[in-house]
Amino acid sequence: MERVSVLCLFLLLCFLSGAELQHKEIIEQDEPESVNVPKQTQPFHSDLDAVLREMKTALAEHRVKIDMLQTLNQEQATKLRVLELKASEVDTLKIQQQAGQVAFSASLLASGSGNVGPFNTHKTLVFKYIFSNIGNAYNPSTGFFTAPVRGAYHFELHIYGPNASGAWLVKNGEHICIAWENQTNGHGKASNGATLLLEPGDVVFVRQYANSVIQDNGNHHSTFSGHLLFPM
Ligand SMILES: *[C@@H]1O[C@H](CO)[C@@H](O)[C@H](O)[C@H]1NC(C)=O
Ligand SMILES: *[C@@H]1O[C@H](CO)[C@@H](O)[C@H](O)[C@H]1NC(C)=O
Repeated sequence: MERVSVLCLFLLLCFLSGAELQHKEIIEQDEPESVNVPKQTQPFHSDLDAVLREMKTALAEHRVKIDMLQTLNQEQATKLRVLELKASEVDTLKIQQQAGQVAFSASLLASGSGNVGPFNTHKTLVFKYIFSNIGNAYNPSTGFFTAPVRGAYHFELHIYGPNASGAWLVKNGEHICIAWENQTNGHGKASNGATLLLEPGDVVFVRQYANSVIQDNGNHHSTFSGHLLFPM
């Protein structure tokens, strides 16, 4: 670019000096004594040819540079496209990760201490005190955990009672496992847990054994917890 500017300036100077010469020629032509006009224009034309040749060379060089820049530009556009694709992959991973953020833990009583049961039938246990409910897959009003994605989930059940205390871990109405104790000389505690492959919409909850009593207080003896191990 700089070189072209210099050349342009040079050309302009040549033009101006040429114009001056021509002006002189005109003046000289006006004077009848002057006779050597054509001789003076000859070197100017050869200079102009040289300048034009140089400019042609410079232009050719610039064309090569422009081609190189265009190639570079195309390479950078390709690189940008690759980066954009990577960014969208990251977004997809983020969504998948957020879908995988499922974990809850709840204790039986919302506050205070007391018994749940005995009832003469098996009954859904609603764990009301929420320790955590990441992803809101557990409903503290119904006691139901609903799987948001297909995956492997782990559940734990801990129940505490004065004597016969029992509860099942239930998946869609099917009894998976039971926690059971019948300690007649004091309080007893029972536990169980399972890892389950769940489809989206599968429901997991705890069902209290008929005629059993389950207790809880501020120490949170009776709890139900679950979390997604990994989506599948
Ligand atoms: C079991 O515990 C409940 C609640 O404390 C009590 O009402 C019941 O009498 C107990 N049953 C036995 C057999 O000890
Ligand atoms: C608990 O054990 C006691 C004593 O063995 C028994 O009388 C009672 O029937 C048992 N309760 C249940 C619900 O099995």
